[in-house]
Amino acid sequence: MKHELNAQPACFKETWPKQLKIFSWIDYVTAIPQAMSVITTWKEGQIPNACLQAWTTYIGDAGGYYVILSILNDNHTYKNILRANDFVVNFPEIDVFPKCYKTIENNSDGTDEITSVGLTIESSKVADAPRIKECFLNLECRLGWHRPLHDDSIWHIFAGEVVHVAIESNHAQSGTYRRYGSNGFIYNIPPSKDIGTGKQDNGMIGRIEPVQKI
Ligand SMILES: Cc1cc2nc3c(=O)[nH]c(=O)nc-3n(C[C@H](O)[C@H](O)[C@H](O)COP(=O)(O)O)c2cc1C
Repeated sequence: MKHELNAQPACFKETWPKQLKIFSWIDYVTAIPQAMSVITTWKEGQIPNACLQAWTTYIGDAGGYYVILSILNDNHTYKNILRANDFVVNFPEIDVFPKCYKTIENNSDGTDEITSVGLTIESSKVADAPRIKECFLNLECRLGWHRPLHDDSIWHIFAGEVVHVAIESNHAQSGTYRRYGSNGFIYNIPPSKDIGTGKQDNGMIGRIEPVQKI
């Protein structure tokens, strides 16, 4: 049996203030996973900034490969990209994730959000933004276009063209699906709500297990 939904279930309640303003109720019904990354930029005065990031997509053709970020319009990253145009998308393995998560707590204007959590800054080759050395893949990006998700949205969409790629050699070889499993991309499994009761399950971190050739 399928449930057919076109409005927020009445049993959905907020578990923190503005939860269902910042996120759509549909997020809690669908709980679609996304590859987890950290967006790095410069705050004013060349202070390193980090933003744990889930709501992102990746698409390209011969004319350019783009990262499409959804960014909350009250955070540092929003201001930094509008000011400087450049950013880096850094992909952590699961071992590096706890330090990446800590960047959310170390978020004041004057804080170097990379080294203050025990991560290391690596210079970018092309983009004017810092990279995270411990991440196995870094996509250096330059802003192509941007717009709010819709009129009055708190979400802002940035499309950045990838101008340089850095990838650890052990992830760039064929043969054993090295980009996945325990040493590869990690996924944000968003919290979900039971559509009958509204009970919320915690969000989780997940990884990809390749199961079938196509
Ligand atoms: C699992 C998870 C995923 C997140 N994904 C995003 C995201 O896609 N976009 C965003 O703007 N904030 C996202 N955030 C919130 C930011 O990481 C957080 O607000 C961060 O402190 C912003 O940093 P900044 O102010 O230095 O830019 C996420 C947080 C968590 C815990």
